[in-house]
Amino acid sequence: MLYASVSLPLSSPFTPKNTNCFSPSHFSEFPNKFSFKPSPTILSYCFQVRSITLPECRQNENTGTASNVSIANKPAECSNSPELPPRGLPPLVSALKASAEQNAASFHFPGHNRGHAAPASMTQLIGIRPYVHDLPELPELDNLFCPQGPILEAQKQAAKLFGSSKTWFLVGGTTCGIHAAIMATCSPGDYLILPRNCHVSAISAMVLSGAVPKYIVPDCKNDWDLPGGVTPLQVLKAIKELELEGKKLGAVFITSPTYHGVCSNLAEISEICHSRKIPLIVDEAHGAHLGFHPKLPRSALQQGADITVQSTHKVLCSLTQSSMLHMSGNIVDKDRISRCLQTLQTTSPSYLLLASLDAARAQLSESPDIVFNKSIELANEAKCSLKRIPGISVLENSSFPNFPAVDPLRLTIGFWELGLSGYEADEILDRDFGIVCELVGNKSITCALNLGTCRDHVERLLSGIKHLASTCSSIQNPKYRVLTDHALFDDIIMKLIPRDAFFASKRKVTVKESLGKVSGELICPYPPGIPVLIPGEVITERAVDYLLHVRSKGADISGASDPLLSSIVVCDVL
Ligand SMILES: Cc1ncc(COP(=O)(O)O)c(C=O)c1O
Repeated sequence: MLYASVSLPLSSPFTPKNTNCFSPSHFSEFPNKFSFKPSPTILSYCFQVRSITLPECRQNENTGTASNVSIANKPAECSNSPELPPRGLPPLVSALKASAEQNAASFHFPGHNRGHAAPASMTQLIGIRPYVHDLPELPELDNLFCPQGPILEAQKQAAKLFGSSKTWFLVGGTTCGIHAAIMATCSPGDYLILPRNCHVSAISAMVLSGAVPKYIVPDCKNDWDLPGGVTPLQVLKAIKELELEGKKLGAVFITSPTYHGVCSNLAEISEICHSRKIPLIVDEAHGAHLGFHPKLPRSALQQGADITVQSTHKVLCSLTQSSMLHMSGNIVDKDRISRCLQTLQTTSPSYLLLASLDAARAQLSESPDIVFNKSIELANEAKCSLKRIPGISVLENSSFPNFPAVDPLRLTIGFWELGLSGYEADEILDRDFGIVCELVGNKSITCALNLGTCRDHVERLLSGIKHLASTCSSIQNPKYRVLTDHALFDDIIMKLIPRDAFFASKRKVTVKESLGKVSGELICPYPPGIPVLIPGEVITERAVDYLLHVRSKGADISGASDPLLSSIVVCDVL
């Protein structure tokens, strides 16, 4: 499949405007809860430590406590978690513990009142402790938007470990960090160079910032029909094209590693960017673990990125939704990042999420050089065994010779030689073996290995795949059964920039009527979360055929107001 470059017949409404970020003065006026000083009497009362007096064990069936929770499938049986850190608790975890242990008469939010009114259906599931520790922005817990206490300390320790000049904890996932990174570097009308197979958050960041996309289309010409990363040459070409057209470039945005673990040569890309003082933002959602083992590729910061956003919750062990944004160098204005984050994030951040980031950092700090030993060993063993199974392909560095590395903890397994699609293989593995993978594609499935991966589960995966290989070996003409197809990006015409398309008036039309019209929605088969139609782009027959095809193969079509795709929302464009 050839991906030609995207033509952008843009009208010229892209005069830079001021951003809508808060001004620094607004930020300094933000109420600082640290001005609260409890009286000595209150203090001594507050700090009467109770070894967590859990809310009363309620007997009726509407309530639940930790003691009546039964865990059928105890993670501990397959746990790689080390013991508690010998040097004490991480700063924010420690502050949360101390705060929850106070004998407080609480008259504050959240309404479950430190678990006293926690709904039984939930406590029966997860116990009472998450509620007891689900505390608001109490003075002793610091303030995410003006950190001076344990949050500041936790963020500093994360900065030291990950090698940033400043780290922000995020409660809105990497999605929110990408929004902030792009808003902090691109004003309305500025160009943003980004891969076409970027995560949807980069597209919504362009709606928020008013940035104009200049897409780089990754090559998909490989056995896997999967997009790789972005090469330094592609970046250079895109920059030169914009320079020739006299356009203002806000930032270069690269996804590395990709969902499948393909890493781009960020060292060279950052050199190209820095020679022109252009900030390099890296979507490192899948790479928070990089750089922590000699066999793992180097992290974005180690290769010179200015901003990197990592989903700590994906490969590392924080709670879902918690991420980190790291910055380095002095091209990007750190105050602008803070203002963007304050604009984008909730004013009631969850301390469970924040503390889980601190804990994940501490877990890694304990033994940063060896913590991934076992996971990498298991991944290598699994790959060796899989490669010996007839009909099974395993994605490796050699599958993407133009890129420096593939994350060894991503296990992408291909079934096309058996005549099976990834969707079909996934269904059998899930139904018959209870194997739940991370990502399903047309030709493959991808398993994410992590610190919690255990040998039993890897062996179950191997048995499942051996079973598939033996039962499917009789499929006739397997090569013709699985169609080669991937998202089509070589005939894209952008009529409106994402922001104008987002705010344009819209209507719903039948799929047939939609051809040739301007898409009003971002339509993205999920997984893998690669947008096929982006608001503002002309709807082509090929795009529609592709979407209908992957839907028929089992992909969820996210973003489409009609997931069955019998209708599509289009922009009213004069
Ligand atoms: C490449 C990539 N970037 C960003 C994100 C968003 O991350 P989060 O779920 O932490 O918001 C994802 C999520 O899957 C992703 O795959």
